[in-house]
Amino acid sequence: MIGSEHEYLAQVERLRQYDYHYHVLDEPLVGDSQYDALLAAIKAFEVQHPELIQADSPTQRVGFQALDKFQKVAHQTRMLSLDNAFNAEDLAAWYQRQSQQLEIESLTLSCEPKLDGVAINLRYEDGHLVQAATRGDGHIGEDITQNAKTLRSLPWRLKGDCPSSIEIRGEVFMPKAGFDAMNRRLAETGQKTFVNPRNAASGSLRQLDPEITASRPLTLYVYGMGQVSEGWDCQAHSQAMAQFQQWGLPVNPWVRCVQGIEAAEAYYQTLVAERDQLEYEIDGIVYKVDPFAYQRALGQVAKSPRWAIARKFPAQEAVTTLEAIDFQVGRTGAITPVARLKPVFVGGVTVSNATLHNMDEIERLDARVGDQVMIRRAGDVIPQVVRSLPAQARSAPVAAPSQCPVCDSAVERAPDEAVYRCTGGWLCAAQRQTSLTHFVSKGAMNVDGVGGKLIEALVEQGWVTRPADLYRLTLDQLLSMERMGEKSAANVIAALELSKKTTLARFLFALGIREVGVTTASTLAQELGSLDAIRTADIERLLDVTDVGPVVAEHIYRFFRAPEHAAWVSDLLAQGIHWSEAAPQGDQLAGQTWVLSGGLESMTRDQAGERLRALGAKVAGSVSKKTSCLVAGPGAGSKLTKAEALGVPVLDEAGLLQRLSEWES
Ligand code: IVH
Repeated sequence: MIGSEHEYLAQVERLRQYDYHYHVLDEPLVGDSQYDALLAAIKAFEVQHPELIQADSPTQRVGFQALDKFQKVAHQTRMLSLDNAFNAEDLAAWYQRQSQQLEIESLTLSCEPKLDGVAINLRYEDGHLVQAATRGDGHIGEDITQNAKTLRSLPWRLKGDCPSSIEIRGEVFMPKAGFDAMNRRLAETGQKTFVNPRNAASGSLRQLDPEITASRPLTLYVYGMGQVSEGWDCQAHSQAMAQFQQWGLPVNPWVRCVQGIEAAEAYYQTLVAERDQLEYEIDGIVYKVDPFAYQRALGQVAKSPRWAIARKFPAQEAVTTLEAIDFQVGRTGAITPVARLKPVFVGGVTVSNATLHNMDEIERLDARVGDQVMIRRAGDVIPQVVRSLPAQARSAPVAAPSQCPVCDSAVERAPDEAVYRCTGGWLCAAQRQTSLTHFVSKGAMNVDGVGGKLIEALVEQGWVTRPADLYRLTLDQLLSMERMGEKSAANVIAALELSKKTTLARFLFALGIREVGVTTASTLAQELGSLDAIRTADIERLLDVTDVGPVVAEHIYRFFRAPEHAAWVSDLLAQGIHWSEAAPQGDQLAGQTWVLSGGLESMTRDQAGERLRALGAKVAGSVSKKTSCLVAGPGAGSKLTKAEALGVPVLDEAGLLQRLSEWES
């Protein structure tokens, strides 16, 4: 309960601090419940004392009136755009021109990610946010002040001394996770979804009703300025960014100054490697000549400054023809529609297939054979069809298959699932083959040198129909296969033999139980201790296992009750698959939470995680104040930045190996 105005003001300030730490610094000071309690107390006081409400109380970020239309506003100085460089040569040529013009060989460049969002102009008068506007045509934009004020990372007041008036510019964007969650929500409620985070950011920011904007996961980074009143002593872009940060504005942690063109190229390569790990989409790198004196000397051409350039990444979207829709059957029988495309170059590679996810997705996109479709390929992610641009004369919509395209078994759809499944189970050659490929894969039984192609041939020969059959293969059988030399055949037999010594977690994962991935398999092994305990566990016992919910519990329970599965498991054990029961569970790391990020050379991240778990640690996916240690390999990226900011200890691979050898001995 807040009892006085004085206390109210203090608590509002406290809430503002919480917001700043959470939304700008990404380092929460308190948990959700504590935050919510404070917010509720402030709101309760404000209801009792409406006359005392602070205009910039965080509670005021919502509750604006909807508008009929946006007012036009003139920017005090023009909002420029950027010239593009599409490759290293373009960038080098730009660098050369600027360095010649300035007669300086090695330029200091500020490098930063080019965010894929919407540009915004923020006018602060005496440190107070008085107006936010879109870019518009560069001279005149739209007044979106109310909407911008709903962004929790945007301060309404700058901290410390600042010029009496300043235009600050930045990019409003929607992080990938927020975009996915929002689209899911929109789809569930039958609303139109957004094609990509950029459109989503733009559509969400330009809502006449600020409540809608407030409900969308928007945030921003600032990257420059327009008009500034006299008397601000700032000599370079990098200084301005440091100052913005001190004023409490969100600045991208990836902003760096580099010296010379080689370092600029190296920065580009770092970000190319990092791109998929970033929490938001970027479409290139912006380079800016750092000292303002040089910027002034270089000036601008038409709409873009000479002192800055955007080196673009390969485009992730392209339009092509949808030539056919086929259906593929996965390991669990799930039938996935696949778009066969006229080959198109996108995201740096030629794409001729893309996933359509499921029948609901085809219906939502209204994608039909012959249509032009927009394809999106982000990093290593499977290319997706994101939109259909209907042809004039259209073919009929594609119907879901009623029989499995591989084995002709009936196809069914569970009432609450989007996917159709083949009911053939192991009778279906597609399911059999993908399940066996999963069984031998790296994270599972790890049979070196045996992959999808060999499995396909073995299944075709009729030698392998169940996992245990693999262990009955003979050298002669293998030698009789096409393109199989003596050495390879012997290697396969040796690899199979070697794989028999495994861990309970790997074995469980290899069985391919639905919804049981590497992590669940490890937790089951760790918490239940033995195969017998797992296969006899009832639903209630399974639900006690960390992160196992009703659906997963049901799949595990049903798997072990199916007679054919019980038979295979016994057969596998009879073939000599073994592990040390009750994995040597250390307690050196009990109570600790570790995070792994970036690449490791001597083992995979899963293997490292397994060893840490065996020492009693929890292995989590993201860094927080509670993280005990981050293991960071090359490309550790934002997790490393965050760990450093939070003071979380960081180990490289050598450090990890050294400690593992101490703890495991
Ligand atoms: S600087 C004169 N920095 O890209 C410099 N722009 O085509 C003006 N953008 O309209 C822009 N991230 O919306 C700059 N780190 C960044 C940026 C960035 C995204 C956008 C901005 C601008 C467009 C330029």
